[in-house]
Amino acid sequence: MTRSRADAEDRPTALHVEYYAQRASAGLIVTEGVQPSIDGKGYPRTPGLHESAQVEAWRQVTDAVHAKGGRIVAQLMHVGRIASRHNKRAAARTVAPCAVRANVSLYTDSAGMQACDDPEPLSIAAIAKVVEDYAHAARLAREAGFDGVELHCTSGYLPMQFLASNTNLRTDAYGGDTTRRARFVIETLEALIAAIGGGRVGFRICPGNPFNDVVDFEPLDTYRCLLDAVRPLRCAYLHVIRSPLTTIDAFALARAHHDGALIINDGFEPDTASAAVTRGLGEAVSFGRHYVGNPDLVERIAAGAPLSPFDRKTLYTPGARGYTDYARSDAASAGDAAQ
Ligand SMILES: Cc1cc2nc3c(=O)[nH]c(=O)nc-3n(C[C@H](O)[C@H](O)[C@H](O)COP(=O)(O)O)c2cc1C
Repeated sequence: MTRSRADAEDRPTALHVEYYAQRASAGLIVTEGVQPSIDGKGYPRTPGLHESAQVEAWRQVTDAVHAKGGRIVAQLMHVGRIASRHNKRAAARTVAPCAVRANVSLYTDSAGMQACDDPEPLSIAAIAKVVEDYAHAARLAREAGFDGVELHCTSGYLPMQFLASNTNLRTDAYGGDTTRRARFVIETLEALIAAIGGGRVGFRICPGNPFNDVVDFEPLDTYRCLLDAVRPLRCAYLHVIRSPLTTIDAFALARAHHDGALIINDGFEPDTASAAVTRGLGEAVSFGRHYVGNPDLVERIAAGAPLSPFDRKTLYTPGARGYTDYARSDAASAGDAAQ
């Protein structure tokens, strides 16, 4: 999850090494959103994977997780129009399928709350460059020791801006009917797979979620079309969020249109997660917010130990406070010792 602790060069730091290593007992860590290019950044202090110094810095993180027996994939997140130039390098652009500004405000370190930028529409040639940026980031992810990558297609960021009806008004090969709106995501997944192999590429969707000012008039059709096209690519997994803001049963939709492993997400507790996997809704459940305050979440769940709350105020603030200073549970450790 995005925690805004990267340094001024968009590199992870020693704090990231500690944070992810503390959580290495997760079956699989999906990192915070990582921008594949300078244009892909929208929030303050988010890390990138487009420069060699960033690869070196991520290598410290992946080594620390692997040393503790964990696995970790980099989540590739291009925010598209959900960006403020105050959070970007001077040379960076804010791009989107069309010149439609998001009705969203963003926090910036230098100028407080700001409206999103007016995005520049991507030309066909510029789309090809964005797809190549993703593939390049995937190759760098492997160089940095990641086990794979996850394509972030949720939360109203660039891939979802191509999928949704209100943000994609294009009339060329990338807009119009569902097949053309799905094309960007399909081509990006194909490029990621060509770069590092399908067994190392997962993707994350949240059908119908209106977060960040996206509206899809026909989300069921859009995601059926996307998943049916992606099916033959045999991605490592599909990570699907069921948003309480839509009536779509995203888990059933994903089950019906995806053959491989399904990771399901949103609002799970240990008992509801276990019941969902027993019922066959997914092969695995991902936990987001519980991992903020519970670095030893797996051990706590195994021991039946209580889960700790987290402090919302320090979710995105720099430094160790509210990031690496959540304690492990004595009860869970006692359970470990007894085994
Ligand atoms: C502080 C915070 C940061 C998040 N950052 C990301 C992100 O970078 N990428 C992503 O896919 N989801 C992100 N999310 C969404 C979570 O991954 C997850 O889908 C959501 O919290 C619901 O799951 P949960 O109930 O287990 O927390 C974030 C959520 C929070 C609260």
